[in-house]
Amino acid sequence: MMTGYQAIYQRYKQQILAGSLKAGEKVPAIRVLAADLGVAKKTVETAYNILIGEGYLVSKGARGTIVNPDLKLKPATEQTLNKVDDQKLQQLIDLRDNAGFFRLGIPALDEFPYKKWLLLSGKDIRAMRPEHMLTPPVMGYAPLREAIANYVNISRGLNCTASQVCITSGYKHSLALILQALATRHDKVVYEDPGYFFGQKLLKRIAENLHYVPVDSQGLNVDYLLNYQRDARFVITTPAHHSPLAVTLSLPRRQQLLQWAQEQQAWIVEDDYDGEFHYTKKVLPALKSQDSADRVIYVGTFSKTIMPAMRISYIVLPKVLVNRFHETAEIVETSLPLLPQQILSRFISEGHFFKHLKKMRALYQARRQMVLNALQSVYPTQFYVELTDGGMHIVAFLKTGNQDEQLANIWQQHQLLVFPLSAWYAGKTKRYGLVIGYTNIQSEQQATEALRLPYEQTLALLG
Ligand SMILES: Cc1ncc(COP(=O)(O)O)c(C=O)c1O
Repeated sequence: MMTGYQAIYQRYKQQILAGSLKAGEKVPAIRVLAADLGVAKKTVETAYNILIGEGYLVSKGARGTIVNPDLKLKPATEQTLNKVDDQKLQQLIDLRDNAGFFRLGIPALDEFPYKKWLLLSGKDIRAMRPEHMLTPPVMGYAPLREAIANYVNISRGLNCTASQVCITSGYKHSLALILQALATRHDKVVYEDPGYFFGQKLLKRIAENLHYVPVDSQGLNVDYLLNYQRDARFVITTPAHHSPLAVTLSLPRRQQLLQWAQEQQAWIVEDDYDGEFHYTKKVLPALKSQDSADRVIYVGTFSKTIMPAMRISYIVLPKVLVNRFHETAEIVETSLPLLPQQILSRFISEGHFFKHLKKMRALYQARRQMVLNALQSVYPTQFYVELTDGGMHIVAFLKTGNQDEQLANIWQQHQLLVFPLSAWYAGKTKRYGLVIGYTNIQSEQQATEALRLPYEQTLALLG
């Protein structure tokens, strides 16, 4: 084993070559590193001098020593290391993470109230006290739970208290926690077909007894559920705007579903991921608001209304489940960083959230129309759209054929980040089309120009 200056030299050289120490980055002062490692200053100085001599480090005199800013290293193998083996999953990850047109399911990045958010963040950073350095409560920061309870009661028609709210770090976290707290290995779990791709992927891993129920123009086909999957213990559904078809679960089916859950003592997991964005005059309350038997576990998120980067979502629990969830949350550890929870709770309780939502609702409705117009003008005969009452995306169904995967590949090459609908189906009966997000399109002209990019190839494929 190398000791002394050689060990230090090797360690720094390797970190620079691996890219974990980047060009221009400062390295510790000789005196500090020597004290840290418990070695003489001379030892560190010798190592640094060799690194400087070889061009890895540059001394900036009194300002310290930095990694040579002119160092041009091949990017480390990080990029390939960060890929997953499942190609379809990798494709979706790329669509989610890359910049381009028609990105699905993200809020309008150009209209976020950045200044207000920064102002509130500053207030919370300055208000930091020693007690804020402790582990935050596993069920979430109390004022945020309070703010969420008020919000869902007013806006989504629920009737809950803050004690029923459990803060989580995203939809998949919520889903995993629900099954961890309530399900046994053999419980039948039912998911929608088609259904949210990432949700399906998670359930395939954690639910051994997973089944699907088809979705049509009125949402989840509850008759099918009653006929073929009546003994399910969990139904996971998107009643406000189905993912990805964006249809709303009809009132008769809502009642049928709630009644079934009551009779079977089953749980309905209501994923209300974008219920805020409903464009008809009628208010659309959550399924949970009609749930007199308390069989609905309501799952919400701030990824669509604020930003996905915050990773704050929540579960509103039936009262009987609160203690069980609290216990599970303590065991599996669900606390989230405190600061974002503080900022968000201030954003809601000071009224900015309601204002922002109102603005986004009008904006998204207008942006949807821009994309619909553009689609109609560029591709008048290739697609049809079944207009739904809300959501953050449309589905452009193919008028003929089933080549949505090939078409999506072509569009993606032009940075149009659309998903092929058929890929979201679990069963053999599929529909074909492109799932298109519109929340970040700023004008009809922009949408038209983007849609024209793959024009020739689209016509060549679809005729
Ligand atoms: C159907 C569906 N549910 C839930 C979510 C929320 O995801 P998260 O809260 O993990 O960001 C999304 C986001 O895309 C979604 O499409």
